[in-house]
Amino acid sequence: MAEQKTIVVGITGGIAAYKAVGVIRLFVKAGHDVHVVPTEAALRFVGLPTLEALSRNPVTVSLYDDVAAVRHVALGQKADLIVVAPATANTIAKIAYGLSDDLLGTTILASTAPLVLAPAMHTAMWANPATQANVATLLDRGVTLVGPEVGALTGADSGAGRMSEPEQIAEAALAILDLPTAARADEGAPARADEAPPVRDLESLRVVISAGGTREPLDPVRFLGNRSSGKQGVAFARAALARGAEVTLVAAHLDPGLETPGIRVIPVQTASELALAVESVAELADVVVMAAAVADYRPATVAESKIKKDGQGGGLVLHLVENPDILAALTRARRPGQIIVGFAAETAPTRDELLELGRAKAARKKADLLVVNVVGWAAGFGSDDNTVVVLAGDGSIVAEAAGTKRAVADAVLDEVVALRG
Ligand SMILES: Cc1cc2nc3c(=O)[nH]c(=O)nc-3n(C[C@H](O)[C@H](O)[C@H](O)COP(=O)(O)O)c2cc1C
Repeated sequence: MAEQKTIVVGITGGIAAYKAVGVIRLFVKAGHDVHVVPTEAALRFVGLPTLEALSRNPVTVSLYDDVAAVRHVALGQKADLIVVAPATANTIAKIAYGLSDDLLGTTILASTAPLVLAPAMHTAMWANPATQANVATLLDRGVTLVGPEVGALTGADSGAGRMSEPEQIAEAALAILDLPTAARADEGAPARADEAPPVRDLESLRVVISAGGTREPLDPVRFLGNRSSGKQGVAFARAALARGAEVTLVAAHLDPGLETPGIRVIPVQTASELALAVESVAELADVVVMAAAVADYRPATVAESKIKKDGQGGGLVLHLVENPDILAALTRARRPGQIIVGFAAETAPTRDELLELGRAKAARKKADLLVVNVVGWAAGFGSDDNTVVVLAGDGSIVAEAAGTKRAVADAVLDEVVALRG
């Protein structure tokens, strides 16, 4: 078993507090010493005895209980990691401003442990510029955000704001613990020792990146997907972070091990969810990089129960409908000065055919830059390296890059910087 760590789980006052129980269980199951600090509001949604029973430690809310033990700072100083799930808009604001009028606030303020927040709130609260500014402040300080996800909210609405699942939160948090402090501090530093240290030429710019591959459900157990690992998109995210950007990663089924502290992650499943998430965050972005492999089609209907074999050997015909064209929608809604980078992953057998397909796509989509690469059984997906040609909007070649996905990402970001003048 891995070394036992002291983990503080903060719970704040939202409906998703019931899901925090799952986070506590996962940490306890992994053998860690878990201390739960709910806010007063959290206890309106989940009971204190449940939290004590599951965490196997006493739970207090008040700053003024057990004063002799100096609990208000002791817990924070003892913690190897603090995870707040769910994190309300209120608590996010309080942490951003360093407010400490309850035990969770003092614990966080007195601690130097990595802090992971799993926001959960209505889409309107999440999209509010006040919340977004607070989140940006926290990301700047190296806080890790998991979610929120796009999906059904508590009421009739849906949108960005749903808390990530306990497994995702626990996995992202434990991934931080498993890294030595030095590795976390220079996440986003050059992938190889022979690469130059990053220039902070994207300082304070808001960069949105999509990564991974979408999955379109056929029935409750099956989907149509693709082989994208998310490595190229994550390489963009890490490169942009190292160059000073505020990065939001819209992530569709990334391979394990690609978590990166300091990057806000919005997990999505389908092309429609990816479209909703990217379009909502792109509104304020300076740069958008669409590296995800997004399904062009989805099943017209999703079966409510598992599709059965008919046993007659008659085959199965699927009716697919086209998904929205996210890149074209982004370029239509492009705000002044925003740079949009598209991808064209093609199976063309020759370079000329590849460029021809890329140029046709550049003309259709009107992206500022189009990164063209070959994919196939043995190329592109899943590997650590890539070879790309970067086209301008008019189809002319502006750069070519080959090497690690990180080196390719940096080469494309160089062109973004050049375009911004
Ligand atoms: C039924 C109900 C559900 C709520 N859900 C959320 C939520 O999901 N996210 C949020 O930020 N606030 C939510 N709130 C508002 C918070 O409970 C309120 O802002 C509270 O002051 C948060 O306190 P805390 O951050 O100290 O836990 C909800 C309120 C109610 C009555």
